[in-house]
Amino acid sequence: MTTNSSGTVLITGPTGSLGREAVLAMARRPRADRPDLLLLGRQGPALDSVLAEARAEGATAESIGADLGSLAQVRAAAASARRLVENGTVRPLRALIANAGVTGSTTQALSADGFERTFAVNHLAHAQLITDLVDVFSPPARIILIGSNTYYENIWRRMLGVAPAEWRDPLDLADAAAAPSDVRSAGVAYSTSKLAILYYAHELQRRAPAGVNVAVFEPGWMPSTGLTREMPQSVKRLMSAVARIPGVSSPETSGPLLASMAIDPRWSDLRDGAFIVKSEERPVRPFAVDRARELRLWEATEELLRSTAID
Ligand SMILES: NC(=O)c1ccc[n+]([C@@H]2O[C@H](COP(=O)([O-])OP(=O)(O)OC[C@H]3O[C@@H](n4cnc5c(N)ncnc54)[C@H](OP(=O)(O)O)[C@@H]3O)[C@@H](O)[C@H]2O)c1
Repeated sequence: MTTNSSGTVLITGPTGSLGREAVLAMARRPRADRPDLLLLGRQGPALDSVLAEARAEGATAESIGADLGSLAQVRAAAASARRLVENGTVRPLRALIANAGVTGSTTQALSADGFERTFAVNHLAHAQLITDLVDVFSPPARIILIGSNTYYENIWRRMLGVAPAEWRDPLDLADAAAAPSDVRSAGVAYSTSKLAILYYAHELQRRAPAGVNVAVFEPGWMPSTGLTREMPQSVKRLMSAVARIPGVSSPETSGPLLASMAIDPRWSDLRDGAFIVKSEERPVRPFAVDRARELRLWEATEELLRSTAID
């Protein structure tokens, strides 16, 4: 078993609810147990603020500005991260937390590259980042993707109207014109992007260098985070009320669990896309392990990323 705190953790979405709490949990660790931090998020006051807070706790931290809706910006961000590691501004890269995520009220919103926004931000941007940084990791290292149980239906989610994933060819998932435009389909797009993350994690582990382990974290339902930003006011009010029920997950409780997955020895042997719900490993549904879909997603992702690359 190894500890990961002797290096650097890169996290996307450090300005959001879960990401911010994970950053602060890492920054607040005792010095000997505190990683350096690369905070990759949209440029602006929220990024400046979480950077300042992490530094105030004593962490060596750098911010890298990028909108994950633009693959050109993701590539530039990966190049910056590489530079910061290689020139010794931060210690060796030991973990990447692909935390940023988005959901919306429409499937018709597009990324800067013209892809359906949910698939683009939740999956494609992180696939680009990981592709560009995979040779920068110093093993033992960890890649942690963020999943969501919304990928499958259960009785509670059916009652709440949370739509499960509906798998389609990944080129269609990236194509907003191929998606129905009703509100339910926006929920489907989110859940499907999270199923894609499970498939991607399994294939990534087969291709990752020795010593780079891939796992997926599910933070539990945190009802009142930024993910609700495009929801109607009535839903936001309901979510705020649910968030106050004792025992319901929150960024404050799940952020430290995510931080722990990135750095603690307890999780050093996790690999193969192991699915951790808060702090317990759980099996995924049988349809979330599918070699043919995983290979197809990998190849389609490469094709989509290539289609936007400038030689
Ligand atoms: N909330 C839940 O119940 C729940 C359950 C399961 C899984 N999750 C997952 O947990 C992760 C964190 O979600 P959260 O609940 O903490 O939501 P959140 O508060 O909305 O945080 C989302 C983060 O993603 C960033 N982001 C979104 N679009 C971006 C873009 N185009 N470029 C750069 N950054 C972008 C946001 O940055 P800005 O501040 O710039 O917008 C923010 O930092 C997500 O992957 C989500 O799917 C959440």
